[in-house]
Amino acid sequence: MDIINSPFRGLGGLKVFAPATVANVVCGFDVLGFAVNAPGDEVVMRFTDKPGVSISKITGDNGRLPMSADKNTVSASVQHYLKHINRTDVGVDIELHKKMPIGSGLGSSSASTVAGLFAINELLDRPLTAMEMVPFAMKGEELACGTGHADNVAPAMLGGFVLIRSYEPLDIIKLPTPNLYCAIVFPDVDVPTRDARQMIRKSVLLKDAVVQWGNVAGLVTGLFMNDIDLIGRSMHDVLVEPTRSILIPDFYKMREMAMELGAVSFGISGSGPSVFAFTRDEQTAVNITNKIQQHLTGLHIASETYVSAVNQEGPKIIG
Ligand code: HSE
Repeated sequence: MDIINSPFRGLGGLKVFAPATVANVVCGFDVLGFAVNAPGDEVVMRFTDKPGVSISKITGDNGRLPMSADKNTVSASVQHYLKHINRTDVGVDIELHKKMPIGSGLGSSSASTVAGLFAINELLDRPLTAMEMVPFAMKGEELACGTGHADNVAPAMLGGFVLIRSYEPLDIIKLPTPNLYCAIVFPDVDVPTRDARQMIRKSVLLKDAVVQWGNVAGLVTGLFMNDIDLIGRSMHDVLVEPTRSILIPDFYKMREMAMELGAVSFGISGSGPSVFAFTRDEQTAVNITNKIQQHLTGLHIASETYVSAVNQEGPKIIG
């Protein structure tokens, strides 16, 4: 939508959508991620007379998210952003509309935070580039789960597939987007990212590291060569998945079902409990989500499913 025609813009405000993301992409713990078209979160931001950042409304969170400006990831990262650009004179009010499950492993906090940062940057006529805003979104992640990893916020902000080559200094690279569909299933069990990070082993065996970096390099090469088979056979994780899969009901059974139905690859999305599969076509993705959902229903576990291509554009103004 044209910004000039935005009804909120006319009233000194904007409504922004930012996408969910699949972090890690199985073998790239904390260094790989991509955005999807759906689900995602929405933020409405309006200028106010009083300097500072406030939150007047949050919907879709069942009361789980803090309204306090210092504690909420959206407002806290906007505060950091305003301080950085020396605009603490600015006053904005935020409405956050959660359109995706919290604690799902789909970058829920990242989608909200990125929507907020994109909105303030647009309202102030874009003082920063999308890449320059990533560190402020990472502050939000730090608040949400204790570490400022970038593999959700960077793809949510930039769209597409990204590599975080280095955290210190931050070095983020956009990778080619594969022509693949993504099938996502969110089994409704609680797996907080903070806990799912704490349970991972802190040291790894050299022989496992060799397998892992071979796979990361294979996946990145597969993206550049658009070699779907190479992408598929590189998406294996010997470091994190063996531990985290314990938290996900019937993880290996779900993988077997997805692969039998023709998935290119299957794994945990971010820290879980969501799982995802890459497929060559949309129908296969739909078949996989249906079959896995049916299986989870049999286990008395509710679930949400999403089928989407990889999102290219990142956040966007929707009103
Ligand atoms: N890389 C992060 C993790 C992503 O796996 O903990 C969290 O969504």
